[in-house]
Amino acid sequence: MKDTIDLHKTIDESQQGEALMMASNNNGKKLYLESYGCQMNFSDSEIVASILIGEGFSTTRDSSIADVILMNTCSIRENAEVRVRNKLSQYQKQKRNNPKLIIGILGCMAERLKKDLLEEEKLVDLVAGPDAYRDLPGLIQEVESGQKAVNVLLSREETYADISPVRLGSGGVTAFISIMRGCDNMCSFCVVPFTRGRERSRNPETIVKEAQELFNNGYREVTLLGQNVDSYRWNISKKDEIIDAEKPTVNFAQLLEMVALVNPDLRVRFSTSHPKDMVDDVLHTMAKHENICKYIHLPVQSGNSAVLKRMNRGYTREWYLNRIEAIKRIMPDCAISTDIITGFCGETQAEFEDTVSIIKEVKYNFSYMFFYSERPKTLAERKFEDDIPLAVKKSRLQEVIDLQHVLSKAHNKSNVGKTYKVLIEGTSKRSEKDAYGRNTQYVTCIFPIGAHKVGTYVNVKISDYTTTTLIGEIV
Ligand code: SAH
Ligand code: SF4
Ligand code: F3S
Repeated sequence: MKDTIDLHKTIDESQQGEALMMASNNNGKKLYLESYGCQMNFSDSEIVASILIGEGFSTTRDSSIADVILMNTCSIRENAEVRVRNKLSQYQKQKRNNPKLIIGILGCMAERLKKDLLEEEKLVDLVAGPDAYRDLPGLIQEVESGQKAVNVLLSREETYADISPVRLGSGGVTAFISIMRGCDNMCSFCVVPFTRGRERSRNPETIVKEAQELFNNGYREVTLLGQNVDSYRWNISKKDEIIDAEKPTVNFAQLLEMVALVNPDLRVRFSTSHPKDMVDDVLHTMAKHENICKYIHLPVQSGNSAVLKRMNRGYTREWYLNRIEAIKRIMPDCAISTDIITGFCGETQAEFEDTVSIIKEVKYNFSYMFFYSERPKTLAERKFEDDIPLAVKKSRLQEVIDLQHVLSKAHNKSNVGKTYKVLIEGTSKRSEKDAYGRNTQYVTCIFPIGAHKVGTYVNVKISDYTTTTLIGEIV
């Protein structure tokens, strides 16, 4: 899953104003919802909004007039949590002037810290983990009646499959669809298995239905979300369960095809693929359908096999490079991005150099890069010493950032003169005359919109570039 800290955004309003106003007649209470973390968390916030709007809440973008403030939080790195704590202290000040204000914490930090933020630190009134959102109306009532409200139970079944998310801040063109929850991989650095629980897939029929409804409502791109989409599997919820012949299993390649067939004008993306599970079937399905975007996010984390072993990633450098070779063979035009961690426990200079060399070898289109941040209870915290000095972690991080910068720029330069099919996602903040959208490889293109409409496809000829964007004109 693409992360977040650097791409951190806040969603706090819904664009479905009309629906909200109608629902708000019930109790008129205002909800301010703030989201951090990965796309999954943003997708969950849309479930939360849906549940509470169903109870008569309306959403607001102004936290100072809210009756309930909910923060959907991330625990992936220490910094992510520090940021949330600072924000919570700020809201506590607001509560001093308005004692009725309810402050709640959702998501991964809620799950990780459980009652601590409520009982010990007294920063919140309500705590709800990622599988407890159906309980939010009840939890809010408990707070109103003066009780402490906590639900951090993780579930083996909850997928929120039947809840229609309220699309928050999406512009009406692109949307996320969660296809699974949780994670069964135990990457030693990662807190997600502890905060999100066991992996479970969602019924493909509900996924296809959601994609169809989005298309009918004018959406033209969906991103299928899971921590490890390659292990999507419907009908086998437990590993050793007997397969029911009446209900054949659906794997990720099949699901991808089912969604691609909703309409040729509906683009399909997905995130995140795991190198140990990514099979050629998925690649062939991508190659077969023009509307499945030619872009794969394949986090490598490290280019050194010994480090990968300590990370418990389940693959070696050679295996990973074989997967890259398969992508390039089956889809020569496919863009590839990655996640990198520098300064993991025991990482020697030579091991780090292998990360540098794999970046050069794969020539990623872009990368999300982080220095290692030890997380409580993870395998790495229990087994290894967090022994790389912060300054070294940071200088290694800077080195890979600089390298990626050069590679991204070279990729974009090589696009000059080419023409790409682009889905118009919106107009630029600076000028209504300029549109932005992405090509199939996920690169943002900027161009004069002319008479074209948001939500339509155009062909854009590229004439210029920056590190992150392509600039061109509709042809
Ligand atoms: N499921 C996805 C990752 C989700 S977390 C996958 O397996 O690829 C997103 C990224 O955050 C990870 O890929 C990793 O690069 C980074 N990350 C996770 N835990 C981290 C930690 N403890 N310190 C630094 N970066 C971390
Ligand atoms: Fe974390 Fe690994 Fe699961 Fe990704 S696959 S969420 S890195 S444990
Ligand atoms: Fe996502 Fe952060 Fe949780 S990356 S799964 S919100 S720890």
